[in-house]
Amino acid sequence: MISHSSYVVEPWCVRETELDLDVLAQSESVFALSNGHVGWRGNLDEGEPHGLPGSYLNGVHERHPLPYAEAGYGYPEAGQTVINVTNGKIIRLLVNDEPFDVRYGRLVSHERVLDLRAGLLRRTCEWTSPAGCTVRVTSTRLVSLTQRSIAAVVYEVEAVDDVRLVVQSELVANEQLPRTSGDPRVSAVLDSPLQPEENQALNNRLRLVHSTSVTGLRVAVAADHVVEGPPSTRSFSESGDDTSRLTVTSSLAAGEKLRLEKTVSYSWSQVRSLPAVRDQVEAALAGARSTGWQGLCDEQREYLDVFWSRADVEIDGDAEIQQAVRFAMFHVLQAGARAEQRAIPSKGLTGSGYDGHSFWDTETFVLPLLTLTSPDSVAEALRWRQATLPAARERAHQLGLKGAAFPWRTIDGSEGSGYWPAGTAAFHINADIADAVILYVSLTGDVDFERETGVEILVETARMWHSLGHHDPHGKFHIDGVTGPDEYSAIADDNVYTNLMAQANLRAAADIVERHTKEGAALGVDDEETAAWRDAAAAMTVPYDDAIGVHEQSAGFTRHQVWDFAATQPDQYPLMLHFPYFDLYRRQVVKQADLVLAMVKQPQAFDEEQKARNFAYYEPLTVRDSSLSASTQAIMAAEVGHLRLAYDYLGEAALMDLHDLENNTRDGLHIASLAGTWAALVGGFGGMRYRNGCAAFAPRLPEKLRRLAFTVQVRGRRLRVEITGAAATYTLLDGEPLELRHYDDLFTVGIDRPQTRKVPTLPARTAPEQPPSRSPRHR
Ligand code: BGC
Repeated sequence: MISHSSYVVEPWCVRETELDLDVLAQSESVFALSNGHVGWRGNLDEGEPHGLPGSYLNGVHERHPLPYAEAGYGYPEAGQTVINVTNGKIIRLLVNDEPFDVRYGRLVSHERVLDLRAGLLRRTCEWTSPAGCTVRVTSTRLVSLTQRSIAAVVYEVEAVDDVRLVVQSELVANEQLPRTSGDPRVSAVLDSPLQPEENQALNNRLRLVHSTSVTGLRVAVAADHVVEGPPSTRSFSESGDDTSRLTVTSSLAAGEKLRLEKTVSYSWSQVRSLPAVRDQVEAALAGARSTGWQGLCDEQREYLDVFWSRADVEIDGDAEIQQAVRFAMFHVLQAGARAEQRAIPSKGLTGSGYDGHSFWDTETFVLPLLTLTSPDSVAEALRWRQATLPAARERAHQLGLKGAAFPWRTIDGSEGSGYWPAGTAAFHINADIADAVILYVSLTGDVDFERETGVEILVETARMWHSLGHHDPHGKFHIDGVTGPDEYSAIADDNVYTNLMAQANLRAAADIVERHTKEGAALGVDDEETAAWRDAAAAMTVPYDDAIGVHEQSAGFTRHQVWDFAATQPDQYPLMLHFPYFDLYRRQVVKQADLVLAMVKQPQAFDEEQKARNFAYYEPLTVRDSSLSASTQAIMAAEVGHLRLAYDYLGEAALMDLHDLENNTRDGLHIASLAGTWAALVGGFGGMRYRNGCAAFAPRLPEKLRRLAFTVQVRGRRLRVEITGAAATYTLLDGEPLELRHYDDLFTVGIDRPQTRKVPTLPARTAPEQPPSRSPRHR
C-alpha cells in the first residue's frame, strides 16, 4: 500500500495523500486506533464507504456452535467470535441536502495522517458536492491511552461557499457488515449480535446499552458533544434501540466553521447491572470532559513520549524500514497498552480476522517486545492467562492430562480451535506462555508477579508436560504426538522446539517453587514432584540426524520425502489452500520457522556450527505460509552470518501490512509480524539475547544500514545501544550499573560511562536458497 504512490515514507507518521477505494479496507486496518481495550478501525467519519466497519471492545464476543462433519471426543462445541460493537465514530454530514459521500461529487483533496508520536489520526479533505458546493472537512481522532474507556473525535467543517449544513453524530449498534463467512450459523449470530436494553438522548448526550444473547455480555456506550458554530447553529437529539443521534444544523457563510467535539466512552461487563454499566460510561465521560479535548491530546502525547523514550529504534540507511518499525511498535503498543487482564488478539483490535482470537503469537512475539519496552502491560497480559487457568485445568482433565492445558486459540479462555491437529495438539503454547513468564520475571525482577502469577502458571504447565510425556525403557523422556510451530507437520514425536521449550518450562517450575516454597506447597507441589520435573527435563529427547549432521525438526522428519517444490506453482501458495493436509504432513516442507525458532528461543541447546548447518538445511524447505516466519528467519540468518538474507527477511516482516504482502491486511494487522520487525532489528542485527540474568549482544549490520540505535528496558533501567558498522556503544540512561555482554566480553555499564566495543567482521558464508519462488523480496 505504501508502495502505492499515495503513501509517503516519513519517519514518524503514515500519510495517505489520496483516497483509493480499492484499498479502503486495508487502510482501515493501518489507520486503526486502539488502547488494547477499545479499538476503532480507521473507517471514514461518515461511516460510508467502508471496507469493514469495526469498533471492538476487548473481550466482547459471541459464542456459536462449531460445525463438524464428524465430531470426536473433546472437540470444542462452541466457537467464539469477536463482535462489532456499537459504533461511536460516526459523524454524517449533509451539505445543502446532499450527503457528504466521497463516491459522489468531487473529492478535491484528501489526506490522512497517523501520527505515531501524538497518537492521533488526522484527516483533512476538501469536497465539492454534486451540486457544486464546496466544504473543507477536518477530523482528529484518538483512542485514549490514559483514559481506558475513552475515544474522541474533533470534527470541523469549513464552508468554502455559503452552505446549509446538517451534522448527525451517532451511536450505531448492529451495523450491517459485509458478509465474510459462508457458515450460516456464524453469520446468524453476527448479523445482529446486540440486543437493545436501554437508549437515551438528552441534549448533547447519547447513550445505548445492549447485551449479547449467548455470552450475556452487557455493553454500554455513551457520547457527549461540544458544538461551536455561528449563531444560526441549532441542535437536538433523539434515540431508538440501535441508533442514538445528535443532529446539528447551521448556515455557514464562506469562511465560517462548524466544530463538533465528540467524546465517547465504552464499558462492558458480564456481571454488572444495567445501572452499574450506565453509571460507568457516564462517569468516564465526566472524567474525560474535565480533562477536555486538549487535555486528552496532551496526555496522549506524554504517554507516547515515555514509551518512545524507552523503546525507540533509529535507523540510518533505510527510511522505509525506519517508518515501518515505528509503525509496528506503535500498533503493538496499541494492542497491549491497556488490555489489562484481557487477551491480546493476533490482530489486536484492528479487525475481526481470526475471529478476534489470541494464539501463541502473543507470548512468543508480542510480549518479548513489550517486556523490553512497556513491561507493565506484559504482567497484565500474563495475569489474563492466569485468570483462565480454571478453563485450562478443565481442558487438561478432559484430555486426560494433569495441570493445565491452555487453548490454542481463544477469547474467553476455552479452546476455540475446531481443528485439533493444528489446535489442541499444538501443546507448545503452554511452554510459550511459561517462557513469557520467565522472560518477564528475569528482565524486570518483579518478585510480586513471580509469586502471585508466575508460580501458578509454571507449576500447572510443568504438570501438563510431565503427564503428556513419558520415559522410555532407557530413561529418555519423549513428548509424542504433538504439533510444533510448523503446521505442515502435525502429530509428530519429539518436536525439538516443543521439547526444548518444555524442558525450560519444567526446570523453571522446579526453580520457582524453590524460591516460593509457600506458594508451591499451596499448589500441592512436593520435592518428589519437582525431582520428577527435573528428571524429565534432564532426560529430554532432542532428535539429531547423525548421518547428515542436523537436528530433526521432530523424530524422523529428515527421513521423509522432500516436497516436490519444482512441481509447485507460485500461485499454489499458501500450500494449505491447494493441497491436502495429509500430503503436507508426510513430507519435508515447513510452513513457518520451527527448528529455527527453537534456535532463537533456546540458543544454549545448539553450538554455532549446528546453528549454521541447521539453518542451511531448513531454509530450502521453509515456504513461509505464515507471517510469523520471516522475523525468526531474519534473526537466525543474522546470527549465522547471512546479513543480506536477514535484511530481506526484515523487509518482509516490516512491510507485511504496509505493503499488504499477504493480501489480508483488510482483516486486521498481523500484530506478531509487526512485533517481529522489532525482533529482527534488536535480536537479529543487535544480536540481543537475554538469558540467565544478563543481556548479551552480538551486533552486526547489513551493508545497507549505516546505523542502528535502540533503547530497551532492562531491570527497570533504560539501556541505549548504538551500532555502526565498526563499533557498538552501550549507554545506561538511568539506574544502577548493569552488567552486559558484547560477544565474549563481559563488562559493566554505568550512567555517564558509555562503553564502546568493536564489532568484529563476520566470515563470509554463502546463503542458502529458499524453495523456488519463495525467496523474500530483495531490498
Ligand atoms: C500460524 C500460527 C499462528 C496463526 C495466527 C497461522 O497461520 O501458522 O502459528 O498462530 O496463524 O497468527
